[in-house]
Amino acid sequence: MKKKRLKNLTFIFIICLLIGCINAEQNNKDEVIPLQGKESAWAIYDSDPNHVWNRVFRQLYQRTADGKEYGFNELDPLLWFDTTYMFTEPFYQQTIDVLDEFLNTNGETLINDPLKRAMFQRDMWAVFDWLIVREWEYASQSLELQSRLSQIIKRVALSKEQILSLPNNYKQAVEAKIFPTDFQAQYPENAYLPVDLFEANSAWVPLSREDAPIVITHTTSSPFLGRSVFLVFIRTPNGRQGTLDFITSLQTQSQPITPIGTETTLVRRMLLISNQGDLVLSPLFEKIQIRRFNPEQTFYEFELNRNYLFKNIAGGFIPKKEIFSLFMNHGDEFENNRRPELKTTIPNICLSCHYDYPSTAISGNTQSIISYSRHNFPLSENETLNLLVGDWNSEFQKVIAWKVKHKTWMSLTSFWNQ
Ligand code: HEC
Repeated sequence: MKKKRLKNLTFIFIICLLIGCINAEQNNKDEVIPLQGKESAWAIYDSDPNHVWNRVFRQLYQRTADGKEYGFNELDPLLWFDTTYMFTEPFYQQTIDVLDEFLNTNGETLINDPLKRAMFQRDMWAVFDWLIVREWEYASQSLELQSRLSQIIKRVALSKEQILSLPNNYKQAVEAKIFPTDFQAQYPENAYLPVDLFEANSAWVPLSREDAPIVITHTTSSPFLGRSVFLVFIRTPNGRQGTLDFITSLQTQSQPITPIGTETTLVRRMLLISNQGDLVLSPLFEKIQIRRFNPEQTFYEFELNRNYLFKNIAGGFIPKKEIFSLFMNHGDEFENNRRPELKTTIPNICLSCHYDYPSTAISGNTQSIISYSRHNFPLSENETLNLLVGDWNSEFQKVIAWKVKHKTWMSLTSFWNQ
């Protein structure tokens, strides 16, 4: 009895330590997991860092600079359009060896937890798609890697039912009650996670447009490439009707006003491939980005962290202050030697695209709502923007329609069907 209580207390203590890290992180840097040694940071899929799943993950996600290791805490692999290290020796052969070890020893049988299998598939798929868009160089090495990764992606695939039964980690994050749920006027830099974002009839209204994904640029660009479904939400301080009126004003008025306190979110949700080879929209949320017009803007981001997700801590969400620039960027930050500032900070990175234009903060900032204004990201000539109220399923269908025609999916399915 005593032993059990002690064990429980130890458990609570560890959780408190971890949660403490999450809260503290709102002020600190993103390296939140205390590292006893470098190995332990990579003990993500199993407590043994030497487990073949951990070694595969580390081989593909680890980058180093100035003796420091990066990648274990990153949602997306640190791979850019011009990255070369993946194809050069001795790294390339090491990768082939560890992937072969996984395949030859039936590594997929070692872990049954559906959540880990889902994440692992997602992690391998991200590297596979990168290889396809990077294909203009190193074709033969790339093909060897693609062939092995596609087999792993297939072998760890879950059934559609299993994917749909994965946890809704946004709900878990809200229920954990760790993060503020609304803008903190006294601490405007603190990230918050709205509780009613996905509730029907809440003041948050999801946006959509006919025919194509509302979030067309992210969907069709690296590193996303149609492996996630995005949805944009808008909320004004004037309730649901006020928000609907604001959306109408965006389309009918030439100089619409963004009410002070208006917020927009960009939500990224994970797609997975079922064991039948179908794309399935999972209940897992990967990223939440929030902008608030005070009227000057504040920016927030929560990202999925594998360690916290697997330990069931706040749905795996952590607030980010610094990020690697992977979307619309200047190329590999490690190989191009842009040290020591490898990461860019929020809000600077966000402002590089969502700047107030013109700088009259109140009336001008609708231009910074890019899914509406398309400022600097114009649609193609024959496309029109007719804003509608959206939903996950219709965005999912539009993403599938794009993905199945893309070379990343065509290559993967041709390996899959071999
Ligand atoms: C490289 C340019 C770029 C950067 C950097 C960027 N965004 Fe965006 N963002 C976009 C584009 C483009 C869209 C419109 C959706 C689409 O088509 O992909 C968008 C949409 C959004 C939306 C939905 C509302 C809207 O404006 O359309 C939010 C919220 C958002 N971004 C938040 C952020 C946050 C927070 C950051 C910083 C962490 C950030 N963005 C950094 C380009 C960028």
